[in-house]
Amino acid sequence: MTNKQSQQRYEIGMVGLGIMGRNLVLNIADHGFPVAGYDQDPNQVEALRKDSAGRDICGTDNIKDFIALLRPPRAVMMLVPAGAPVDSVIKDVLPHLDKGDLIIDAGNSYFKDTDVRARKLSAKGIHFLGVGVSGGEEGARHGPSIMPGGPKVAYERVRPVFEAAAAKVNGDSCVTWLGPGAAGHFVKMVHNGIEYAVMQLIAETYDLMKRGWGLNDAEMHEAYASWNKGELNGYLVEITSHIFSKQDEKTGKQLIDEILDVAKQKGTGMWTSQSALELQVPIPTINLAVEMRDLSVFAKEREQAGAIYQLSHRRLAGDHDTFLTQLGRALFAAIIITYAQGMALLAVASEQYQYHLDLEAVTRIWRGGCIIRAALLEEICSAFRTRRDLPNLLLDPNLSVKLMEHQEDLRQVVCQAAESGVPAPGLMVSLGYFDAYRSAWLPANLIQAQRDYFGAHTYERIDAKGTFHTEWEKGGES
Ligand code: 6PG
Repeated sequence: MTNKQSQQRYEIGMVGLGIMGRNLVLNIADHGFPVAGYDQDPNQVEALRKDSAGRDICGTDNIKDFIALLRPPRAVMMLVPAGAPVDSVIKDVLPHLDKGDLIIDAGNSYFKDTDVRARKLSAKGIHFLGVGVSGGEEGARHGPSIMPGGPKVAYERVRPVFEAAAAKVNGDSCVTWLGPGAAGHFVKMVHNGIEYAVMQLIAETYDLMKRGWGLNDAEMHEAYASWNKGELNGYLVEITSHIFSKQDEKTGKQLIDEILDVAKQKGTGMWTSQSALELQVPIPTINLAVEMRDLSVFAKEREQAGAIYQLSHRRLAGDHDTFLTQLGRALFAAIIITYAQGMALLAVASEQYQYHLDLEAVTRIWRGGCIIRAALLEEICSAFRTRRDLPNLLLDPNLSVKLMEHQEDLRQVVCQAAESGVPAPGLMVSLGYFDAYRSAWLPANLIQAQRDYFGAHTYERIDAKGTFHTEWEKGGES
């Protein structure tokens, strides 16, 4: 073999060797694929070299050398922060690529940016895949959920690598080509929106247990651990149970009680809300979760308001076990409602942006590896298997039975929250969405009338087609 041939043998290249990139490189190499890694920072390259013993991995901080290692048509994947860093990587690698090569953005990029990048690169004969990767550091290392979008032919180039590296559920890889353009990044964005909402709902159950019922951390650890054994089984509930048993190395106290009550975000939740508003799809639980992170940041103002409104949280009374069962069932109902909102957004976006999403496939690849993986996803997946064009999960016969069985618990918990003054806006808004969605009649007739009254915006009638206007102040009141 010539030197050139021996060099051009790495199946895929990774740009960005931070912990996520490095873990994904190791994961791919563990499945027998030679992987090349590149990072501008020699320390990151060195960190990869240290971890890669016994594996077919080659790391470098020289971009030219890196590209020279890759098997044509080349597949260059990046795991770098969204925004400018993605454009900067594209700018750096582009001069070294040939027509037919592939760039993969595996970060949490905004889907509209992915569209722009795909168009620009396609004009230069370079393929571009926008790929959502979920599962954090552990997922990257041992099997994430992978959500690829872009040209199908480009996906075929890396399909064996992705299928090997992805998490497995009953032998199925948690990856599949989702659709053209930015389909993958859109799906990942909505995944994160659901993630935000489920995290917020769990946080509210924590608050109700803590300030509503005065439970201690050990009791809350028990509650989440026991919920995780039943219908609420899932990664976020599981890690929550672990969080409540973690001691702070510094103080010896429970770590959770030493953590500031301010939650930040990198933007994917906010983009989900923005997209939903643009597409006019109601996703109130997800929106609320984004807004509660925003509200948490106003810590000083919250303190001032607390001093003005000196309302202590009324302790809830009754049987603990009954309360905990009810709270878990309320959480489960709200999580179903959250998924209903997120999936409804995907259904509309798929139509609007021509992604042709298969929602059964989307939920199938969320069953393992990703942050929102949960037992419930089996049922959600089967709902879309039964009816591929299901517009809203609340219309699914099986899930609707589940929701009917749990909605009273959600209602009771919301009442308890209102009574005690413990904020539970995610649970409340979920119940509100459920009650509104199941209302064949809504008071929107009054809104029509008001709009027509003050702005002559016209209204539609029940008994006739067309639009109508009334001079509301003319004539007498009946
Ligand atoms: C995942 C996570 C991952 C990341 C989020 C956190 O699916 O693995 O969603 O993408 O942890 O970016 O987002 P925030 O910083 O906005 O909470």
